[in-house]
Amino acid sequence: MNGTPARARDVSRIGRTPLLPVRLRVAGRWREAGLKLEQFNPGGSVKDRTAYALVEDLEDRGLLGPGRTLVESTSGNLGAALAYVCRSRGYPFVAVVDPKTSRRNLDEMTALSAIVEHVDRPDAHGGFLRARLDRVQDLLASDASLVWPDQYRNPANPRVHREQTGPEILRHGHGRPDAVFVAVSTGGTLAGIAAYLRMVAPECHVVGVDVRGSVALGGPPGRRALTGIGAGRPSEFARPADCDEVRLIPDAEAVAACHRLRAGTGVGVGGSSGAVLAAAARHLAEHPEAQRVVCLCADGADRYEDTVYSAAWVAEHGLTGTAATEPAFDTALLA
Ligand SMILES: Cc1ncc(COP(=O)(O)O)c(C=O)c1O
Repeated sequence: MNGTPARARDVSRIGRTPLLPVRLRVAGRWREAGLKLEQFNPGGSVKDRTAYALVEDLEDRGLLGPGRTLVESTSGNLGAALAYVCRSRGYPFVAVVDPKTSRRNLDEMTALSAIVEHVDRPDAHGGFLRARLDRVQDLLASDASLVWPDQYRNPANPRVHREQTGPEILRHGHGRPDAVFVAVSTGGTLAGIAAYLRMVAPECHVVGVDVRGSVALGGPPGRRALTGIGAGRPSEFARPADCDEVRLIPDAEAVAACHRLRAGTGVGVGGSSGAVLAAAARHLAEHPEAQRVVCLCADGADRYEDTVYSAAWVAEHGLTGTAATEPAFDTALLA
């Protein structure tokens, strides 16, 4: 990551994640998918990059320093990542979370000395985003030492993905991908990667992947079970026109894709990565000419053992009946 030597010492392991090539058999043909495994960031997800960029931005603007405390609304991964970055920089951190936040992320935040504020009641839209943001505003009003990076609006969020994640995707040396698939929540990762690829590799097809029921990329609102992907309000960073295509994947299909990848390759990824993989399979089925795709896999299975990888949770959310992807696909490691 960019920065002074002192900064680099603390967080030098963020970024430069591996790209694992796997084989994907769709419509009877094997093709290649590069899995960019963001779980290899020290905090375990792509949000390490965002957290680092947000903290650095506040420091550069003179808003964060000794005596200040960071506060942010998060449903999970950004909280764990900010806890890690704040701990390495010596800033106290208050994470405003909701009941969907995974036990694993809560444990991680607590272990890294974050103060965890729970929001229990959903907002008027039935989600927790507005309720969490309202709590952040209340906290800011009651304590002048608090600083809020605002991951939903801060341009430092997409910028780090334009300057670093995007270039990494092309730098892996496996040849240029025909298409790149990125999941959305704030839309920062997608907006940054799409902006970079449009600039240097406009022939590369960029696909924004959301779950059905999320309105982040303009889809109709509805119930959804997965965490990490989707939002109850449109992205401030990424509009559908900023990428070449948007694909909305049902929760059940994303979960089935996670299981299929783990069965075929032993690689465990999170729910948003399952959605990305399912979207890539649909693309390959419709585009016989496409040889190679890249899937940004935002985190790993470790955060989802009690959800995506739990038979009880899957059944409780009614995701078993359609435990198949459309189209069906198989995965294997490259021989
Ligand atoms: C697992 C996972 N996938 C995808 C995303 C989407 O990232 P962004 O907020 O940049 O759209 C997130 C964000 O929290 C995430 O945690």
